[in-house]
Formats: sequence, C-alpha cells, structure tokens
Amino acid sequence: MTKADLDPFAYLSEFYKLLSSPGALLVTQGWEDRPNVMAIGWAHIGIVWSKPVCIVYVRPSRHSYTCLEQQRQFTVNTVTRDMAEMVELCGTVSGRERDKFTAAKLSAVPSKKVKPPVIEQGILHYECRVVHYSEVQPANLHREIIVSRYAEGDFHRVYYGEIAACYGDGEALQRI
Ligand SMILES: Cc1cc2nc3c(=O)[nH]c(=O)nc-3n(C[C@H](O)[C@H](O)[C@H](O)COP(=O)(O)O)c2cc1C
Repeated sequence: MTKADLDPFAYLSEFYKLLSSPGALLVTQGWEDRPNVMAIGWAHIGIVWSKPVCIVYVRPSRHSYTCLEQQRQFTVNTVTRDMAEMVELCGTVSGRERDKFTAAKLSAVPSKKVKPPVIEQGILHYECRVVHYSEVQPANLHREIIVSRYAEGDFHRVYYGEIAACYGDGEALQRI
C-alpha cells in the first residue's frame, strides 16, 4: 500500500464519514514500551492558534487517558468499514486487560514524528503532539447532554493535538 504525505485538510469528508462509522483508532503510548489502541467516535480537525490540530475526547476511565497523561502525543488512524469488527473490539476491551494490537490483529508501524505508532491497516494517519487540553465542564453543558452522556460522571478531557504529520493512501481514500 502506497502512502503519501497529505495536506491534513485534503480528505476531511472521508475522515468524518469513517469517523461516524465504523469509528477511528486512537493510538497512545505511556511510559511502557507497549502502545495502546482505542476506538474513537468524536474528533475534529481544524485550525487553532494558526496551527492545524486534531482534537479528541477521552474519558478519564480509559487506559488511553493514563497513556496520554504520561506522554502527550497520539496518532489518529482512519480505517475502512470492513474493519468494523476490529474497531468494536478496540472500543469494548481495555488495554489494561489485553494487548489489543494482538487481539485485533493490528500492526503497529513507527510514526515519523511522534512516539506512538500508526496502524498499518489504516488509510489516513494524523500524528499529533498535545498543545492544550481542557475538560468538559458540567456547569457549562446542556442538561440533556449531561443526562444522556454522563450518567456516571467521567467527563471527557479534550486534547488538542498539533498535527505534526499527515499521510495516507490517496487511492483508497478516493474510493470512500
Ligand atoms: C465506535 C466507538 C467510538 C468510541 N469513541 C470514544 C471516544 O471518542 N472517547 C472515549 O473516551 N471513548 C470512546 N469509546 C469507548 C472506548 O473506545 C472504550 O472504552 C475502550 O475500551 C477504551 O480502551 P482503553 O481502556 O484501552 O483506552 C468508543 C467506543 C466505540 C465502540
């Protein structure tokens, strides 16, 4: 599979279509050598502080949160719909219990600019360094969303990652 460097905004509609189904894969790596992968359904790509950023939402209960707090870098990997089962596994099992790369048969490939790897099976990759984070604040959130999304608290921390590299398989992206 040929992967070329891409403008981070070149395939936004493909990114969002696949983020909404089957979801994307967030890879983090804490102090341990072993990376962790989890499914994400919420993210955005944009410009903040004149920088291209990828913003992700991670609940404190996730192992990925612990990894991110240890090393504030991540990769976001877009995968195709035929990988829905693997995304589901990465979104229902914690890296505290199992090595999800092995369980979901995903291959980690070294990143160009950050420590957490990218996923070989992905078709679009964003390598990011956290430049800011903030909390979802219940006091500022619509009550209906608190009730529907935060019955157990566990309010997301929102990580703003400056995009240090973006690359992917242009042909596969054009087929989406
Ligand atoms: C499609 C899908 C999207 C998800 N999106 C998010 C998300 O954006 N943020 C989040 O904190 N958890 C999200 N989850 C839940 C985590 O992926 C799940 O709790 C995972 O097991 C956490 O893994 P970890 O403990 O190894 O970090 C999602 C799950 C699925 C199936």
